[in-house]
Amino acid sequence: MTKRKGLVIAMDGPAGVGKSTVGGLVAKSLGYKFINTGEMYRALTWKGLEVGVDLEDQAAVVELAKKIDWEFKPIEEGGSTLKTFIDGVAVTSQIREEKVSINSSLVAANPGVRKFLSKLQRELGEGGSIVMEGRDITTNVFPDADVKIYLDASPEERADRRYRQLKAAGQEADRDKILAAILKRDLNDLKREINPLKQAEDAFVIDSTKLTLHEVADKILRRIRKGAKTPSHAR
Ligand code: DC
Repeated sequence: MTKRKGLVIAMDGPAGVGKSTVGGLVAKSLGYKFINTGEMYRALTWKGLEVGVDLEDQAAVVELAKKIDWEFKPIEEGGSTLKTFIDGVAVTSQIREEKVSINSSLVAANPGVRKFLSKLQRELGEGGSIVMEGRDITTNVFPDADVKIYLDASPEERADRRYRQLKAAGQEADRDKILAAILKRDLNDLKREINPLKQAEDAFVIDSTKLTLHEVADKILRRIRKGAKTPSHAR
């Protein structure tokens, strides 16, 4: 195993809980890299839809994942957030399309895909100085992470946040539909046979329902600064 230069900070939690915002804030403050692993499942889903692979055909989807040239790098030079590039293309906006969101849980339930992407994620994080978020980072990808966070919030609060985001962006939004979609995604994540979303026993659990995402990031940073393995530059 490569010697870690900084901490591996693993974060899990349900959809729409603010893991990316919080993870990005924590990484920036520590001078670490940040990666949202959901983007990898989404990127593969998007590619599969683009090239017309049957997403129910598990072997074909795994074969596609292995054929793709995966890269993780910041969009802007010096940025701390690593974005997913496949075959040289940054797929940041296309992976947010509705059809990708709907189909990504099918791809995420494919055991061969999970094995393949978990390995990529370990390679990306094993050197340390990274905040990685997803659904199985604390339990499967980095069960030996230096810091484990489980971020939670009620489905109603997550739906409200999404509703306010869409409204602020001048988009149409139906709160009930958003809530129904969140409950469906929770169910998919929790009932998945392989690497379902669950709280690691040793995770620091934060309920963000009544907190701002900046308050959550501060809580995590305070916790890290108190920890024995705190890197000197983070104190
Ligand atoms: O976080 P997200 O909604 O963008 O994730 C997209 C899909 O990938 C979603 O179906 C959950 C799944 N996922 C996963 O199974 N494991 C991860 N580590 C990250 C995401």
